[in-house]
Amino acid sequence: MHSLKVFSGRANVNLTKQICEYLDLPVGQITIGNFPDGEIQCKIDQDVRGQDVFIIQPTSPPVNDTLMELLILIESFKRASAARITAVMPYFGYARQDRKDEGRVPITAKLVANLLTQAGANRILAMDLHAAQIQGFFDIPVDHLTAAPVLDHYVRALDIPPEQLIIVSPDEGSIKRAATHAQTLGGSLAVIDKRRSGNRVEQAHLIGGPIAGKTVVLFDDLISTGGSICGAAHLVRKHGAEKIYIAATHGVLCGNAIENLKSAPVENIVLTDTIPLPEELLPNLKILSVAALLGEAIRRIHCNESVSRLFTDNMKLWSVR
Ligand code: R5P
Repeated sequence: MHSLKVFSGRANVNLTKQICEYLDLPVGQITIGNFPDGEIQCKIDQDVRGQDVFIIQPTSPPVNDTLMELLILIESFKRASAARITAVMPYFGYARQDRKDEGRVPITAKLVANLLTQAGANRILAMDLHAAQIQGFFDIPVDHLTAAPVLDHYVRALDIPPEQLIIVSPDEGSIKRAATHAQTLGGSLAVIDKRRSGNRVEQAHLIGGPIAGKTVVLFDDLISTGGSICGAAHLVRKHGAEKIYIAATHGVLCGNAIENLKSAPVENIVLTDTIPLPEELLPNLKILSVAALLGEAIRRIHCNESVSRLFTDNMKLWSVR
């Protein structure tokens, strides 16, 4: 078997270090910099000919830079004769434009899939894609992980009695995700009717409940400006929720996210480390690590073992910190 090598782009070096610790491997040696005009340059500082290479790079903000860097890294490993190149994208940017929902707009998720393949990626390892069907935009294998067990582990430790717990989906697009959490955690399900008109978001109705006096956990795939999840938190508080928690995989946190989250009526905000964030950003922010989950998935891909069984083998990777 070709030997396993893990390299990092510059977007989440700390996560790569933790993944390598899990795998008991050194982080691959590569130098990445910028030319004076901003163009990205890189040099792989070790031989990778015939090796099984994994490149860790979330395409988080600044998304155009992190994406371009990933493409350049893939191209470098292809030219350096790596046997197989897997792009590990803990966060897959540009995923929200995944269909033509009106005339004359792009499908950027498909464009990014084409770019990655064209650059030379042989496989993709992603986590909580905005829409699972993005896997079908690729003609190369995609392993799609979820951070749900990591988030559920945190919520379970809060010890909320099932009759007290309401899992709320902040929009209809996240119903399936919320339903899966409700199945694992117990409790009942409610949904917010969220409507977008241009950049304006309206969250006027709550379907399900009653939630007065209950503990609500709002689950989403990502928090960008925080408009959706904080609007949802205000609405459930208006409906009488006693305690509210927010849990999401990707903390994109741009625009007014910090102000929005600071003024949201919530106990804790739980995110994972797919995108690097200091826990000190907010007094009630909790960052959970997905490094062991990604590390184990990399090990299994390298050894040709089942990746889906990672979620059924009760491996307790989510208690590793
Ligand atoms: C929507 O479909 C997504 O799941 C998120 O709820 C949304 O994109 C988050 O964006 P923001 O935080 O800006 O409302």
